[in-house]
Amino acid sequence: MSTIVSARGLTKKYGDFTAVDGIDFEIQEGECFGFLGPNGAGKTTTVRMIHCVSPVTAGTLTVDGSAAGVDNRALKKKTGVIPQEITLDIDLTVYENLLVFARFFDIPKREAKARIAELLKFVELETRRDSKIDQLSTGMKRRLLVARALLNKPRIIIADEPTTGLDPQARHLIWQRLRQLKAQGVTLILTTQYMEEAQQLCDRLVVMHQGKILKAGDPRGLIESEIGKDVVEIRMPPDRDEELLARLGPLACGHERVGDTLYFYCRDGIGLWKALVDLDLPNTVHRPATLEDVFLKLTGRSLIE
Ligand SMILES: Nc1ncnc2c1ncn2[C@@H]1O[C@H](COP(=O)(O)OP(=O)(O)OP(=O)(O)O)[C@@H](O)[C@H]1O
Ligand SMILES: [Mg+2]
Repeated sequence: MSTIVSARGLTKKYGDFTAVDGIDFEIQEGECFGFLGPNGAGKTTTVRMIHCVSPVTAGTLTVDGSAAGVDNRALKKKTGVIPQEITLDIDLTVYENLLVFARFFDIPKREAKARIAELLKFVELETRRDSKIDQLSTGMKRRLLVARALLNKPRIIIADEPTTGLDPQARHLIWQRLRQLKAQGVTLILTTQYMEEAQQLCDRLVVMHQGKILKAGDPRGLIESEIGKDVVEIRMPPDRDEELLARLGPLACGHERVGDTLYFYCRDGIGLWKALVDLDLPNTVHRPATLEDVFLKLTGRSLIE
């Protein structure tokens, strides 16, 4: 595998505010690489620099062998973007939106027509070809953005929260299409706040928070190193924590009290679970550790405004 995107000390400032704070990462050709993080973490800012629409303040950023920069038109042509905001022309139809975009890429009209027909099929929008944008559901708009991102047959696709606000059907369709593209050798760069999405799609990912990368790894490895295998949740008021922990003794693995819940993070939670069953505590849940546990541990459980 070869490196297709490489960042060293990548920094973005808006005035005095540092949105991306000296991050390092490498993306391999053909993989799906994820940027995870809460609101305001700097995900969109980072991918906009990769897509050469936002200038780099400091550090280096190389994409497919050349330095990313707002004047790098050649790079823009190699990349497809599914933006976080729905940026479709509401005065035009589905078909016209794609046709106008094909012109940006200087795709000859005949080729563009064939390509649009193929892409509308790919995102299951053939029957909506002549609909105006405001007649589409959010899911349809997102699928149209996927089709638009593919017009120039990009080798790199940046999907910035591609499924936010979608129902499960629409979300799964987009996941399938993204996986299909990856199988064809396309490099996928994904930002998301959905841990299931990251677990479904990403080979490797970084967790970002306040412009910095907190952790990097593959989803399974991160879960194992940060949390373990099992999580046990007990919903009970905090006044009996000490007594319970004393009774559990060494079975009480790493634990945390958050609001009405006492969490245990264990390498192996079976012993703890059996002891809790014997204690006959109500409102107890035993489940596998997930990426969401990692995310909450790393980025904190409080609201980020
Ligand atoms: N054009 C801008 N001018 C000033 N500040 C900005 C600008 N764009 C983004 N920011 C700030 O930079 C920080 C990172 O924003 P960014 O959009 O990259 O976050 P994000 O991780 O994509 O968040 P979200 O999950 O909400 O999309 C935020 O604090 C945001 O307010
Ligand atoms: Mg964003």
